[in-house]
Amino acid sequence: MSTVLERPAAGLATPTDKEVQGALATGLRNRWYPVLPSRFVETGGRPVGLTRLGEKIVLWRDVQGAIHVQTDRCPHRAVPLSRGMNEGDRLRCAYHGVEVGPDGTVLSVPGQPGCPLEGRKAVKTFPTVECADAIWVWFGDALHEEAAPFNPPEQLAGGEWGSFCCYADWNASWRYIYDNLMDPMHGTFLHANSHTMYQGDTQATFVTRDTPKGFVFEKAGQRDVNFDWSEFLDDGALYVRLEIPYPKTGGPGGNFGIVSVITPIDETNSACFFFRVRKVQGWQRDVWRFLYRTKLEPRHWHVLEQDREMMDGCGLGLERHEMLYQHDAGLIRLRRYLAKEARGQLVALREAGKA
Ligand code: FES
Ligand SMILES: [Fe+2]
Repeated sequence: MSTVLERPAAGLATPTDKEVQGALATGLRNRWYPVLPSRFVETGGRPVGLTRLGEKIVLWRDVQGAIHVQTDRCPHRAVPLSRGMNEGDRLRCAYHGVEVGPDGTVLSVPGQPGCPLEGRKAVKTFPTVECADAIWVWFGDALHEEAAPFNPPEQLAGGEWGSFCCYADWNASWRYIYDNLMDPMHGTFLHANSHTMYQGDTQATFVTRDTPKGFVFEKAGQRDVNFDWSEFLDDGALYVRLEIPYPKTGGPGGNFGIVSVITPIDETNSACFFFRVRKVQGWQRDVWRFLYRTKLEPRHWHVLEQDREMMDGCGLGLERHEMLYQHDAGLIRLRRYLAKEARGQLVALREAGKA
């Protein structure tokens, strides 16, 4: 996990819990986030306007197919660039025709050629990569506009693993969705009627195990029976890995994996990416992909709906009313970790005079 500054310099106020939670409300900075499945942005097609981590961004693909992500604001009168046109190698604002290149430079002000705005880098461009059929964007703070290396876990890096990018917008805070992912016990109850999670004890004791970049939260003494463990992994992005055991009828590849990354839209809405992964190659991968599309996918969406409905529209502030017990140790640890990271970022910004 990344280094955190624990103490601010003398004379600088320590961020309060409220400030830390306020900073976290729209997402932890200095991480990569998937923002949209790649297929939603067409080569040379219309620009797509989105909100992610509370910021308005525009996504567009040039005629070569390269993806570009920029602040969705025209440098002239600040209207959304996403309402403009993709000219193949630049965006053209619909309002007065100002043209902006992929690096954010104003290329042309057609109404007043030679205007000082021309040649200025006036639009922020975000570091972007495409991986596992999704567009990933670096959301850095004022001290980290340069992206950290993008190191996806092996399940998303191609190679031996096949994956499907499952995406849905939920009306829930990103933090409650991570809490849900770090709470394996709900599988036994909320998903008890599902095709894969009806087995195993309805009582359990959990233990936590450190990993190099996170931790595993798992049932003591039960493995490969139900949704028995979750792993939080902070490696340039906030991943949660888990596995659901699959019967033989689920096709080749053994346990079925899910790698989740939840991208905040704003305080109470989230873009959820549940990458469904399986270690299968060759013809077996083809079988799995066929099975997934024709049989398994609708069932998975059904299970996810159960999660979504549990959190839908809950708003904020559930923590004030919670009475947690041992099964919640995983999410408690995750909350502490996120708060520690956000606090460290606030302290660093204050020391640098940027907050
Ligand atoms: S607002 Fe975009 S060109 Fe004027
Ligand atoms: Fe669930």
